[in-house]
Amino acid sequence: MNHVNEDISADLLVIGSGAAGAACALRAARAGLHVIMLANAADPLESNSDYAQGGIVARPVGDTPEELAADIVSAGDGLCSPEAVGLLAESIPAVVESFLIGELGVQFSRDTEGELDFTQEAAHGRRRIAHANDATGHAIITRLLDAVIAEPTVKLATRETAVDLITTPHHAVRPAAVYQPIECWGAYALDQTTGRVKRYFAPRTALATGGLGQLYLHTTNPWVARGDGLAMAHRAGAEIINAEYVQFHPTAFYHRDAERFLISESVRGEGAVLRTRNGREFMSDYHPDGGLAPRDVVARAIHEEMLKHGAEYVLLDLSSLSIDPKVRFPTIYDKLLEFGVDITQQPIPVVPAAHYFCGGVKVDTWGRTSIRRLYAAGEVNCTGVHGANRLASTSLPEAILWGQRAGDDAARYRGDEPPPPAEEIAVWRDEGLTEEIDPLLIIQDWMMIKSTMWNYAGIVRNAKRMQRAVADLHYLEHRVEQFYRETKLADSLIGLRNGIAAALIIADAAQRNPESRGCHYRQD
Ligand code: SIN
Repeated sequence: MNHVNEDISADLLVIGSGAAGAACALRAARAGLHVIMLANAADPLESNSDYAQGGIVARPVGDTPEELAADIVSAGDGLCSPEAVGLLAESIPAVVESFLIGELGVQFSRDTEGELDFTQEAAHGRRRIAHANDATGHAIITRLLDAVIAEPTVKLATRETAVDLITTPHHAVRPAAVYQPIECWGAYALDQTTGRVKRYFAPRTALATGGLGQLYLHTTNPWVARGDGLAMAHRAGAEIINAEYVQFHPTAFYHRDAERFLISESVRGEGAVLRTRNGREFMSDYHPDGGLAPRDVVARAIHEEMLKHGAEYVLLDLSSLSIDPKVRFPTIYDKLLEFGVDITQQPIPVVPAAHYFCGGVKVDTWGRTSIRRLYAAGEVNCTGVHGANRLASTSLPEAILWGQRAGDDAARYRGDEPPPPAEEIAVWRDEGLTEEIDPLLIIQDWMMIKSTMWNYAGIVRNAKRMQRAVADLHYLEHRVEQFYRETKLADSLIGLRNGIAAALIIADAAQRNPESRGCHYRQD
């Protein structure tokens, strides 16, 4: 029953603690800004970055920015921004060698000569993926977060869920503010411990909330990937592009009692073969590159084989690997053994699963969105690098690079105009909200979002399915909005409201685009 007025100020507010948020906070803090970084999980490691297995593109001897750019553009199916791709391709040595290895001391796997060990992934013209066995994201994000936490001017606040961006004129008390352009001045955030909503004020805010795989029945993403940032930016009026392009990873571990778990593409890169349950290799029927065809092609082929045979999964056969899978893929080995699958002895049951959001909040090469003072970095943004389908192992360097650039840009405006006086911004009002959340309602609504998105706005789409998706999601949105207005705020309710909003953004974009391209595939 609070009329909350707890206000906190910083030079930069970063929402999210994955690679993009951490890179942004680090750069801004080292340039002298006071930074607050919010994480809705108790453990700031809980992000898609931590789950990334395969690796990060690097620059082996003989490789060139032009070759990498050509592979990115080819996987992106003609929809990439040449400027963004060029920037990323040119910046790889600065990100991987100078920053990750030189500055942070990230330990990548090395060969017997002590040189970086490069692995292969689909649609790459050469072996150029640096990795830390099969836990590359973890190796990177732990060092990055350590560096951020060591900065005296960064405050990390965990179990704080951003509810909405503070934007004027939307949250201005003064009615005449409506004539001003939209500007972002921070965010309202729920302190999960006290149940109170705080106002975080900052002249610059960076959204780094990650992706949205949780909108789908099967996903490789952790629970925090529920489209929070996309929904908040949308409510604030930010421009969003390419939202129909959701990438499905071809191989997630299938087991009735297990959450889907990523089986890195580098397993196929090292020679594993996809087979039907009766042992037939099928990818050569679909693409000349077989199992190393672009992800969208492989995911659709698996989907088709499963439908054709009424199978719940296909098999990934590791028997022809020339390396010991237990040594090269220890994370996968340990995880699957928990469920009785020994990858040194038997094939892995796999299914496609929602993996990466290629669209997002539109940004320029400095991470600036269409809203003044608001940046977006990492999976929540759309830089144009990924086009209609992302090339494997390009998202970590993109997140780090755009995070750094957003941090640099924010630092350039140090001493900029401060946020409006607190009394000119609406306080959070939740007087009279006493109804506690019924968790069953949340579970049921999420099941509806997940099955609607999986069946109607998933790997294979058509007009009828998407019409249904949009209609069903609109109905649910209306119900959830009512629930949100009547119930005491909690992280789960904020997530549900954002999940339905993000699902609608995707379904709507998919319905409007009649053309199959990359991971937006229309049967009709
Ligand atoms: C993988 O290891 O297959 C995931 C790599 C990526 O999505 O970039």
